[in-house]
Amino acid sequence: MKALVINCSPVRNGATAEIVGIIAGELGSRYETKSVCIDDYKFSFCLGCRSCHKTAKCVQHDDVDLLMEEFENADVIVCVAPSYWADIPGQFKAFIDRVTPWCNTHEPHAKLSSSKRGFAVALRTGPNMKECERLIGSIEHFYGHLEIECAGNLGMVSVEYKEDVAAHREEILALCEKM
Ligand SMILES: Cc1cc2nc3c(=O)[nH]c(=O)nc-3n(C[C@H](O)[C@H](O)[C@H](O)COP(=O)(O)O)c2cc1C
Repeated sequence: MKALVINCSPVRNGATAEIVGIIAGELGSRYETKSVCIDDYKFSFCLGCRSCHKTAKCVQHDDVDLLMEEFENADVIVCVAPSYWADIPGQFKAFIDRVTPWCNTHEPHAKLSSSKRGFAVALRTGPNMKECERLIGSIEHFYGHLEIECAGNLGMVSVEYKEDVAAHREEILALCEKM
């Protein structure tokens, strides 16, 4: 069984990367685990042309296909996203927009193989959990339209730098138990 853990922040050594490292470390004994950063992939914005509604394919060809291959290869997918202006980072949102060929609201659409489980993890610097819930909602909405089962989530507040993650280690490990 394979797990994919995605740093949905463009920062490769920040708090999000620290959380990705803890999760990948925990899953490593149970899954063949791969961690990636959204910034490893270069892709253009969705054009909104809706060609994919008729063809199930994007008119653009870039690294979106590579990241979707990682989704296809994984049984468990964990998206870890920091709040940027009270929402997921733009790079991650741009990726989700480009995944429209796989969205189950139109026929034909591209399909991932079934029985995948997805986990949503959000973090932010401010103290209010409601903002994390908004990010989790965005990630779970994305999973839903790919028919990835939403199997668990975690929001963390008061996290700005990687040093702040230690206070949340037990919560992160408890989520890993469910994976
Ligand atoms: C552009 C930007 C916007 C941010 N907006 C918010 C915000 O709206 N609310 C919040 O609580 N934290 C906000 N933050 C703080 C991040 O959520 C927090 O520092 C997080 O730990 C960043 O993780 P990273 O360094 O791995 O990207 C923002 C950070 C950046 C860089």
